Amino acid sequence: MNDPTLILENLNIKGSTKRKIILLTGASKGLGLALAKKLIQGDEYFLVLTARKSSMKRFESESIFNSEFVWLRTLDVLNYSQTESVIAEIVEKLGNVDILINNAGITDRSTVEDSTDSYRKSQMAVNYLAPFYIIEHVLSLMRKNNFGKIINISSAGGFMAMPTMSSYSASKYALEAASESLWYEMKPWNIHVTLIIPGFIDSEGFENTTESRKCKKSSTNQLSTYHEHYKGMKQLISNQMHHSNSTNETIAKQIYKVLKKENPPLRIYVTLDAWLLFWFRKLMPPKIYHIVIYKLLPRVKKWGKQVYKE
Ligand SMILES: NC(=O)c1ccc[n+]([C@@H]2O[C@H](COP(=O)([O-])OP(=O)(O)OC[C@H]3O[C@@H](n4cnc5c(N)ncnc54)[C@H](OP(=O)(O)O)[C@@H]3O)[C@@H](O)[C@H]2O)c1
Repeated sequence: MNDPTLILENLNIKGSTKRKIILLTGASKGLGLALAKKLIQGDEYFLVLTARKSSMKRFESESIFNSEFVWLRTLDVLNYSQTESVIAEIVEKLGNVDILINNAGITDRSTVEDSTDSYRKSQMAVNYLAPFYIIEHVLSLMRKNNFGKIINISSAGGFMAMPTMSSYSASKYALEAASESLWYEMKPWNIHVTLIIPGFIDSEGFENTTESRKCKKSSTNQLSTYHEHYKGMKQLISNQMHHSNSTNETIAKQIYKVLKKENPPLRIYVTLDAWLLFWFRKLMPPKIYHIVIYKLLPRVKKWGKQVYKE
């Protein structure tokens, strides 16, 4: 980065700032970037914004540079030694991580039969295992300070599972369950754990998906078994996203408010659809809930009906 303030990075400024130190993952685009921009506007936080190496240049194009209270660091959350180095540097030079925001995430879109073991593993690795690896490494710091906030970005997929999204949902269910467990464990140390739960966001996020080879083939080949599944789900997701009145910027504002809350709740539903779906699921008898959701899926009447030629 072509920035003279880089020199500040070499100074040991431990304890010299009253700003709370935030470590944010996946800050290169989407919700993470919107949140980074929102946080930079204020003067309350010291930001450690992280992104994968290949995405670091996006900071420059968004006019985000290393500065007195902003550090840009390379962090692929799957690279555990990189995670350890980033945390070690923060501890050495700043002394602590006050707030951790686990935002980095990926979405795998495949039916179960079209998916593979490696897709399932990478979905779990990014959305569940990596956030908890980072959490594991900041907890002792937070406990020492008797203060901390851990914000995990979940999804409506963390309480309801939709077709073609089994691995994504499994990873967010895991994130939710482990966060709930952690909420109890950390209560004695004033460490708050919060799950931010968006439904559909009017953004490109849900279109940035990984797809297995079989899934790609099924999506394009009209005669494949799951072609109508993908077509229907694509239609549903793109309609819901484009009609959502939530954007990355509105969600970023809500997260910003959560940061200021002394005692934030464990779960916050940050889009209207997430909130409505949560209550719909909670209030409906399960049998009716599943049938209603099934009948509402676009093109579902065509599922399993086409003449297959694999
Ligand atoms: N968009 C939605 O409608 C929606 C709804 C519910 C929940 N969410 C959740 O919101 C969070 C942000 O999603 P988004 O919509 O902003 O998606 P996005 O636009 O695809 O951004 C995802 C971010 O995660 C980063 N990332 C992916 N793999 C990574 C890795 N191994 N190490 C470090 N960073 C990695 C990406 O970095 P690169 O730039 O390097 O790819 C990117 O910065 C995710 O946890 C997602 O599950 C989104």
